Amino acid sequence: MNERETLKINEKGHLEIGGADCVDLASKFGTPLYVFDEAYIRKMMRVYRETLAKKYDGNGLVLYASKAFSCQAVYRIADEENIGIDVVSGGELYTALKAGFPAEKIYMHGNNKLDYEIGEALDAGIGCIVADAYSEIDKIDAEAAKRGKTQKILLRINPGVEAHTHAFVQTATTDSKFGFSLADGTAESATAYALNKKHVRLEGYHCHIGSQIFEKQSFVIAVEKCIDFAAEMKQKYGFLLQTLNLGGGYGIWYTDEDKKIAPEGYAEYVEALIEAVKAKAAEKGLSLPFLLIEPGRSIVGEAGITLYTVGAIKDIPAVKKYIAVDGGMFDNPRYALYQSKYTPVLANRADEECTEIVTIAGKCCESGDLIAVNVSLPKAETGDILAVLSTGAYNYSMAMNYNRNMIPPCILVNAGKAEYIVKPQSYEDVNRNDVIPERLKKTK
Ligand code: LLP
Repeated sequence: MNERETLKINEKGHLEIGGADCVDLASKFGTPLYVFDEAYIRKMMRVYRETLAKKYDGNGLVLYASKAFSCQAVYRIADEENIGIDVVSGGELYTALKAGFPAEKIYMHGNNKLDYEIGEALDAGIGCIVADAYSEIDKIDAEAAKRGKTQKILLRINPGVEAHTHAFVQTATTDSKFGFSLADGTAESATAYALNKKHVRLEGYHCHIGSQIFEKQSFVIAVEKCIDFAAEMKQKYGFLLQTLNLGGGYGIWYTDEDKKIAPEGYAEYVEALIEAVKAKAAEKGLSLPFLLIEPGRSIVGEAGITLYTVGAIKDIPAVKKYIAVDGGMFDNPRYALYQSKYTPVLANRADEECTEIVTIAGKCCESGDLIAVNVSLPKAETGDILAVLSTGAYNYSMAMNYNRNMIPPCILVNAGKAEYIVKPQSYEDVNRNDVIPERLKKTK
């Protein structure tokens, strides 16, 4: 195992995260358990914020893409670190507001925002809504008119950039469900459309080309396309680009097939974007826009691990050895969705050499319920504590109650101390919304 920023192996041979012994965490809080290192999250937020401050005179804002991990505590951390957030649903908006997050630093996304979500955003007075369709521009205009307001918006544009990542997390190819396309002219007609609305104020554009992307070139091409387009819109409609939101998408380490970037290293992505914005804006004679970036995965991904207890072990000689854990696709559906790869570590024997190739399986009634396929581990025994690394992003946020399994709790480690930030679910929680119609009630 590579020791990393958040993780180390202590003198007992146990895995530690943020100074807390994972074996102790498992015995105190039980498993499965999501564990987050607060220091890492804060550090990532700071790296992004300070890079924008230093290299772009602070003429911008980092938005934490909270779909990666949404709960009230993480919004408190983002607020304390002086950054903004993006939300993609009424549920995320509600959670952020409930945590006391300042509405003006909230940006709302989504390819099909519902009427009530737009209404809630307007009532809260959020900073900006990123419109993704003509019907949304209409809705925002109408809802703003009802409230006697003018709402700032950006248009999500699709620059048609193919990034090297899983097809399901690419978002800027021509056939994407997201955004107005530059290629087919809808980005231009949506600009004209929005400029004609009374109760929306078009401030600029947003683009997001995909997720888990390492190469900087795709981001740079997207910047260039956006600014070329903005220059054209200035010429044709006199529209002045004030804000440019470049989305998120920077890759993280899951296994040694991925690059390992130290938190400070992520500054390079922001610097590459800034250089591209400056060069292109100068070439086109545009003033520098207020710049937004929206990293999600890179802020929380490597900050989190999941702890499990090893249960059944099934060895099929010459075929496969399954190590089943007490979690599965209900806490981490990413293998089932994207065949994603992870690095597991035996947390109670982290100093032992790996001697076996195994497949980590979940407990759901489904063959595809796997966490990591063909990974190396020391010889695991029932009762061992298994840590799966880099599970901080898109694990808890995509968790579900399949098979009526309970979504595991989340704990936050700060200087070696751990506290709940999301409490465990109970069977009662999972049954909370069930209703038995009168006619189906058991009578005898
Ligand atoms: N901004 C927008 C508009 C987005 O759609 C996303 C991610 C982000 C920012 C943040 O991207 P990040 O920095 O986290 O890569 N469930 C998938 C990932 C879906 C990403 C959706 N959008 C997964 O588990 O890999």
